[in-house]
Amino acid sequence: MSSFTLGDSNDIGVAVLGAGRMGQTHIANMATIPNAHVVVVADPVADAAEAGRDLARAQRASTDPVAAIHDRDVGAVVIVTPTSTHAMLIEEAIKAGKAVWSEKPITQELAETQRVVDLWRASDVPVQLGFMRRFDPGYLRAKALIDSGELGRVEQFRALSRDTFPPPLDYLLHSGGSFLDMSVHDLDLARFLVGEVEEVHAWANVLFDDVFAQADDWDTSVIMLKFANGALGVVETSRHSAWGYDIRTEVAGARAKVVIDRAQKTPATISRTLPSGFGWEGDLYESFPDRFAEAYRIELETFFADLGAGRVPAPGPDEALETLRLALACTRSWRQNRPVKVAEIR
Ligand SMILES: NC(=O)c1ccc[n+]([C@@H]2O[C@H](COP(=O)([O-])OP(=O)(O)OC[C@H]3O[C@@H](n4cnc5c(N)ncnc54)[C@H](O)[C@@H]3O)[C@@H](O)[C@H]2O)c1
Repeated sequence: MSSFTLGDSNDIGVAVLGAGRMGQTHIANMATIPNAHVVVVADPVADAAEAGRDLARAQRASTDPVAAIHDRDVGAVVIVTPTSTHAMLIEEAIKAGKAVWSEKPITQELAETQRVVDLWRASDVPVQLGFMRRFDPGYLRAKALIDSGELGRVEQFRALSRDTFPPPLDYLLHSGGSFLDMSVHDLDLARFLVGEVEEVHAWANVLFDDVFAQADDWDTSVIMLKFANGALGVVETSRHSAWGYDIRTEVAGARAKVVIDRAQKTPATISRTLPSGFGWEGDLYESFPDRFAEAYRIELETFFADLGAGRVPAPGPDEALETLRLALACTRSWRQNRPVKVAEIR
């Protein structure tokens, strides 16, 4: 295996792989990163690669992602391709000695994820996965409060996520089920903020859209968590919300609690008499691109700042593996209608 060769850590050459919906977000965010520049944007769809190159003001567009990884001017790879391709591209980049930032998950398969973790552990290549909520200013503040001990012993965790619009059937058929596709963000936060989870008990149902039943999936769920440190938690997930993108998290400790909640885009509320009576209006978030815009920027900034300073970036493949095991434990719990210890998932 090649050893890690970053090149100039003050001016890191980057290959962006995948210039679709999220790829364009990450390319736009690359423009604000002081110690990196995009050399090549690769996408098998030539028009997408060229549009990505133009957006990135990069030197090259390519339809060959593997060749882009091996480009001699590239020290780091940003992977924003469909989930089924992440593992192969991460492995190729690790073997080429190129630093990796990749959208989550590595894969939804445990054995394949373990294989990537083993390859990463045997290398000295920095790899970070895109669990962006960890970089949202609210969650960063919560993490600092918890780690400093200001909350006292953490006793309870509560997270809820409601997407505004349900996804279509063709997406659901390949999503791995709602625990892996959606609740996984809250499960990752549970581990990030409180610690490892020992046992879960999950319930789910199809309450509002039969398309979920057609995909052998569910639109509404509740997961109960028992943490190794004794804390208890709940994760609620819904695939629709008539009141906009609804993301809230609460961690309660012996001395204080922290609530992460950002209900409105603009900090302005109009209160007035409406035909229906007294009321108020504010602008709600529609979905993850607007609610987590800062987090997407900060996660990449942090990755490149860590590379520049020689720090190990996180969350790495080991974190992705543990979060996947937790989501798989939830799926097993629901399918088998019983509490499941995360240690069962091997
Ligand atoms: N962290 C988050 O909040 C979040 C949100 C949305 C999507 N995602 C993840 O981001 C990834 C991309 O999602 P998207 O919505 O941008 O998808 P998309 O379909 O809009 O874009 C994917 C792009 O990758 C290209 N592509 C396919 N195979 C490729 C390969 N081998 N090499 C290079 N490019 C390739 C496609 O042509 C397409 O242009 C997925 O893994 C998804 O799960 C994460």
